[in-house]
Amino acid sequence: MSLIDVKEIRKDFALFRDNPNLAYLDNSATSQKPDCVLDAVREFYEKENANPFRGIYDLSEKATAAYESARKTVASFLNAQSEKEIVFTRNASESLNLSAFSLGELMVGEGDEVVVSVSEHHSNMLPWRAMAERRHAKIRYLNCRPDGELRAEDLEKLMTDRTKIVAVTAMSNVFGKKNDLKALAAVAHKHNAILVADGAQSVPHGKTDVRETDADLLAFSGHKLLAPMGIGVLYGKKRLLDRMPPFLTGGEMIERVSTEEIVYSEAPHKFEAGTVNAGGAVGLARAIRYITDLGIENIEEREKELTEYALERLSRVPGITIVGSERAEDHNGIVTFRVQNVHPHDVSAILAENDIAVRAGHHCAEPLHRFIGIPSTTRASLMFYNTEEEIDRFVTAVSGIRGLMGY
Ligand code: ALA
Repeated sequence: MSLIDVKEIRKDFALFRDNPNLAYLDNSATSQKPDCVLDAVREFYEKENANPFRGIYDLSEKATAAYESARKTVASFLNAQSEKEIVFTRNASESLNLSAFSLGELMVGEGDEVVVSVSEHHSNMLPWRAMAERRHAKIRYLNCRPDGELRAEDLEKLMTDRTKIVAVTAMSNVFGKKNDLKALAAVAHKHNAILVADGAQSVPHGKTDVRETDADLLAFSGHKLLAPMGIGVLYGKKRLLDRMPPFLTGGEMIERVSTEEIVYSEAPHKFEAGTVNAGGAVGLARAIRYITDLGIENIEEREKELTEYALERLSRVPGITIVGSERAEDHNGIVTFRVQNVHPHDVSAILAENDIAVRAGHHCAEPLHRFIGIPSTTRASLMFYNTEEEIDRFVTAVSGIRGLMGY
């Protein structure tokens, strides 16, 4: 039994207070934000707002301190060696674009290879493909198993002496399956390749220890982790970040510039061109404190209970096919399914009429849907603040869909 008191927790969220009938089951797309996060952002703008790094007056120094303190909070949440390993970006997509561009410049030449899994969100596939095209390199695809897992032994078979980078998801946004990053990183490292992980779905839903998993770069977004939209993170091993060239240029990411030369700042600042999202970083740090106070292990336990509850009930509905494993522990809050003969957009529209929010389509993982031979699906994605009552309403509404559509 998890220690989270959901009834109490829901009081922390204005959106739930104001919409008592809404069953929000689209948390993989974005999470809701507790009052303390919104207050922290507001307080930053009310009390500490100035352009970080630009001024030597008090207010600018306060803004810089708030921003840098947020970086420390993120570093400690991920168990990074130091805050210098934390780059703030706009979101996971930007973190992955940064990674692909910069690693491409650093180490990818004509004929080199990048391994990308078929189960990637477009954000961890398109940047690598664009880079491969620019550098005349080759993409090799790592297939997933039927439960969505990316296996180290399958990766091993794809590795060659030309493989420079392996890009994989830490947790699929369609299957919900978490991958063994440590095993995948070990294969990549054995072949002197870099492992880049997309942690957008995994970081909000379980303990992340970057020292343990040994991924070289790990990307995630704040908005899926109770923080505002527009703030993201790229964790990177310091010695790698030091070697990587900047992605965006301009603003305060330099030591000095003349018309003849540019000397960039050290990592992480060389990757943060232009005015930074200090308010967003402060919001992210507050969200992390909220999560840490609840206990990430308690969150995991609560989401496991909810996933078991949802899968057990949904799989009993006639005409339903669940995508991926039959085991709840492989889903981590993500329940993707098909309703026989009914288009996922109709499923989601009918659920919306019942005040139930889910996502329909290919979930920005179109190659994965092609790989599993299903053009589109409906996805319910849970977070610790969801309730069994919401799941009951969802399952009851799904049960009625085939009848409503005349089947
Ligand atoms: N990446 C988010 C999702 O899977 C938007 O829904």
